[in-house]
Amino acid sequence: AVVEHTFNVGNLSISQLCEQAMIITAVNGRLPGPTIKVREGDTVVVHLVNESPHNMTIHWHGVFQRGSPWADGPSMVTQCPVMPGCNYTYRFNVTGQEGTLWWHAHISFLRATVYGALVIRPRGGAASYPFSPKPHREEVLLLGEWWNANVYDLERTAFLSGNITGPANAYTINGKPGDPYSNCSAADQTYKFHVRRNEKYLLRIINAALNTPMFLRVANHRFTVVAADAAYTTPYETDVVVVAPGQTVDALMAAAGAAPGRYYMVATPYDSAVGGTPPFNPATARAVVEYAGAAGDETPQLPPPTQNNDTATAFRFLSNLTALVLPGKPTVPLSVDTRMFVTVGLGNGDCQPKQTLCNTTDGTRPRIFSSSMNNASFLLPDAGSPSMLQAHYDGNASGVYTRDFPDRPPVIFDYTADASDTDELKYTTKSTKVRTLRYNETVEMVLQNTRLIAKESHPMHLHGFNFFVLAQGFGNYDEAAAAPGFKFNLVNPQERNTVAVPTGGWAVIRFVANNPGMWFMHCHFDAHLDLGLGMVFEVQDGPTVETSVPPPPLDLPHC
Ligand code: C2O
Repeated sequence: AVVEHTFNVGNLSISQLCEQAMIITAVNGRLPGPTIKVREGDTVVVHLVNESPHNMTIHWHGVFQRGSPWADGPSMVTQCPVMPGCNYTYRFNVTGQEGTLWWHAHISFLRATVYGALVIRPRGGAASYPFSPKPHREEVLLLGEWWNANVYDLERTAFLSGNITGPANAYTINGKPGDPYSNCSAADQTYKFHVRRNEKYLLRIINAALNTPMFLRVANHRFTVVAADAAYTTPYETDVVVVAPGQTVDALMAAAGAAPGRYYMVATPYDSAVGGTPPFNPATARAVVEYAGAAGDETPQLPPPTQNNDTATAFRFLSNLTALVLPGKPTVPLSVDTRMFVTVGLGNGDCQPKQTLCNTTDGTRPRIFSSSMNNASFLLPDAGSPSMLQAHYDGNASGVYTRDFPDRPPVIFDYTADASDTDELKYTTKSTKVRTLRYNETVEMVLQNTRLIAKESHPMHLHGFNFFVLAQGFGNYDEAAAAPGFKFNLVNPQERNTVAVPTGGWAVIRFVANNPGMWFMHCHFDAHLDLGLGMVFEVQDGPTVETSVPPPPLDLPHC
């Protein structure tokens, strides 16, 4: 079937945090934007009508985009942006994945208000879920951040000054912060989830926040996780769900509390940063789970408090998930063509011409706060040059990107100790580097977080693929662990499009480059993406017409 939507991006006047606010980029006058519901195999058609004053693109986070890499959405990587007053129609198939994904703007920080859910049910509908019990109802829960400031201005200031973005003003569940803001205005500042006792619900939990991983709890209720990033998992029982920006979790929840009752659902930010001053606000978002018949003024019960820096709980949840192995699903490739060891972290780099406010003066040169992979700090091509995908099609990368990622081995040092950072370790170069992969090349990447400036759990997202997470841990990755099979889960590792690399630690991922195109890999903290924590995989065409990408549609925006 074809599922068609029109996204009008424009103004929304909203009451938020006891103030009247104007969002200049909201989809169809809603926050969050509309949910797209499809069955696996469907075609999605979205007419984007940009009535906002900002350039716009939409990314379909987690969708493979096989045969349609130009529809992926990251600005200047796979397309030029849709300018104010212009339209563009995205068209793509959703094949080979089921569960919860989402969509968001992929330009500036505009995804703060331009986001929504993409729900993919099996071809046979809910009856074909490979888990039980079957839910009575499904509920999308989008966790977000709210900024009083105009997020476009916020991004410009952060980029030009190299000052990391400050904390969000509040966190939200389905756009609403909940208490304590309910007291000062209409009750619709709190999201309510209405349930009936003994019914079962499938929660589709998405972390759409710009910069904050979240813990989600409901007082007196437990969850059974059944999928993550639109890949089924072995059922996993837990009283807390952990989701990093970009990730999704599908969890069953039974309404087994005393009825009629009211219970808080609490989203608590996870502050993984150690040793720096992170963009972090310790506030929580609250929604209310309300049983049929409950009195509206009854005080909801609260879950036990969650420590903001509870790395042990985050690690337990994130590393305990395993895949539900189903016939016909891809399994881990056992042989590897290319091994890469890539550091992920913060640093200081040379200022770019437009970055006038260089504020760091390590050594003799003015430097600007940056983030990087292998000390290469990624810069998007300038508007005015073709997009990277266009340059790839044209066979002329010159002036747009270079094929030299990584251009040197990472600086090897103790990534975890607290020895003072040196300029040399922190130094990053600004560039637009890609790594070219042959069609079907199998890649294993060790993602090693550094401790430079601050340790953090960077949520690393790969466009165009799911990868298998074979192992993760704290400290320096031990090369000895790379011996065949050792410590790696090669039987049922979780499949993800975003891995939260443990703070001060590492993760090992594997994927097969069977999807030709230009695929962004980056930290899903927008503050870090903006300052360069990314790179691009250029995947070459295969030998046949079926394994090569056709040219992009003629109406793809030009720069
Ligand atoms: Cu959800 Cu490149 O992002």
